[in-house]
Amino acid sequence: MKKIIAPSLLSSNLAFLYREIEMINHSEADWVHVDIMDSSFVDNISFGSLFAKFVKKYIHKPMDVHLMIFQPERYVEQFKNSGADHLHIHYEACMHLHQTIFAIKGSGLKVGVAINPHTSVFLLKDIINDIDFVLLMSVNPGFGGQRFLSHTYQKLEETKDLILKHNSSALIEVDGGINLENASLLFKNGADILVSGTTIFSDENPQRIIQKMKLGYST
Ligand code: DX5
Ligand code: ZN
Repeated sequence: MKKIIAPSLLSSNLAFLYREIEMINHSEADWVHVDIMDSSFVDNISFGSLFAKFVKKYIHKPMDVHLMIFQPERYVEQFKNSGADHLHIHYEACMHLHQTIFAIKGSGLKVGVAINPHTSVFLLKDIINDIDFVLLMSVNPGFGGQRFLSHTYQKLEETKDLILKHNSSALIEVDGGINLENASLLFKNGADILVSGTTIFSDENPQRIIQKMKLGYST
């Protein structure tokens, strides 16, 4: 278990984006998570590759890009050029998943496959050895600030079993509704990476929250 923390910029104060980025740079956070939404796969519009390119210029940590868009294969090159280090695509949004995984790897990026709360972990069986990350959505994608869905713990168990059974080296990332309490439990139960937006950015001392999350403090 790695205990990687990836603050999600979706819940940051965008009017003061540079300040938020500097906060992350000087914190114990490991990566920065960028949520890309196109109003089609999810009911929201967030950022595009231009935003990611700007962020990458100033952030001194790997950029973890979560594509919540249909046919993500159309944008691999664009996000590669924006400086993404990891590209997550949704199982539900990608017709030729295997092909797209290899297109992403071929462009030199690490690849993750995200699954919605209703999607079974077992559907990843045939690609589990080809990916770097499984991204378990612990809320329905589209918005920050939602309540964590507790059946994620069960899915975490199933993902660990699948990885073990296939001798895969994929890491497990959990995204949505993460607070100190569930973060501590998720790390204890084998999650490697946690994405957190609202809990971090709504606190008056976000760096302290990041530190506590990393240390596994539940309050
Ligand atoms: C949800 C996004 C998440 C979101 C997490 O669709 O994928 O990354 O920003 O934000 P919180 O921590 O507020 O649930
Ligand atoms: Zn995300």
